[in-house]
Amino acid sequence: MSVQIPAASPGEMAVPSAAAADSIALHGVDIAYEREGQEPLLVVENCSLSVGREEFVAIVGPSGCGKSTVLRAISGLLRPTRGKVLIHGNEVVGHPAGVGFMFQRDTLLPWCSVEENIAIGLELSGNPQKDPQATIRDLVQLLGLNGFEKSYPSALSGGMRQRVSLGRLLAYHPDVMLMDEPFGALDSLTKAVLGRELLRIWEAERRSIVFVTHDIEEAVYLADRVVVFSPRPGRIVAQHRIDIPRPREARAIRSDPRFTHICEQIWDDLKLPTH
Ligand SMILES: Nc1ncnc2c1ncn2[C@@H]1O[C@H](COP(=O)(O)OP(=O)(O)OP(=O)(O)O)[C@@H](O)[C@H]1O
Ligand SMILES: [Mg+2]
Repeated sequence: MSVQIPAASPGEMAVPSAAAADSIALHGVDIAYEREGQEPLLVVENCSLSVGREEFVAIVGPSGCGKSTVLRAISGLLRPTRGKVLIHGNEVVGHPAGVGFMFQRDTLLPWCSVEENIAIGLELSGNPQKDPQATIRDLVQLLGLNGFEKSYPSALSGGMRQRVSLGRLLAYHPDVMLMDEPFGALDSLTKAVLGRELLRIWEAERRSIVFVTHDIEEAVYLADRVVVFSPRPGRIVAQHRIDIPRPREARAIRSDPRFTHICEQIWDDLKLPTH
């Protein structure tokens, strides 16, 4: 079922991750943004979290609580003000190898077509492909982008751009996937299809995923563990292990009493006054 950590000092109490070895470890991380003429803005406070090598962790929390900031620290885009971030046991300095990031806002290259943007992921992966065009075709098919291979991002909808970003991440094939609300701009049907595909891919080839979402049901459906953040400064207020067996079926799981129970607990966590 679910493991709930008391809110007393949750930042210190990491729920043991599913796999023996951790890919990602945050130890007592504070992150503050410097601001001109003002006090630094403390965004993340005393965050300790570990993610196993084959573990799928979802982060939920109110807007502005520091979720994207935590992903940025894991990816080396920013350094914590206090504490440490480790990837495979090494402190993160610069951009660690094998870490892929799907940003909240799409970062497609506007001068590259859909297939060229996906091809960038393949090039970055450094894995020579027997038939790169076939890999790109498969991803285009998987993501429902057929007929738009030659289109440029400016001619795509927001949801389509997100799907291309996902294609680029999957083509890169990193050991650690950081996904910041990857399905946020999608309609519920496309979201369900892509969620299922992401799970299928992950179940076939497990790796670490940290997946930020506002959608509690999506988090519980996808993840092994859901980490709940307080409002800013983001602190971990609860963690829930999702022991619902896999493979999971998106519709069936919603009528599973374990699913509804965990979702309700997370709703409660988010409502809790945390200061
Ligand atoms: N580069 C920056 N400089 C200063 N403040 C920043 C910067 N980036 C983010 N912030 C502030 O840090 C806080 C947390 O931002 P962050 O983007 O991490 O939140 P979030 O939890 O991802 O929110 P959302 O769910 O809305 O995406 C916000 O108050 C934001 O204004
Ligand atoms: Mg964000």
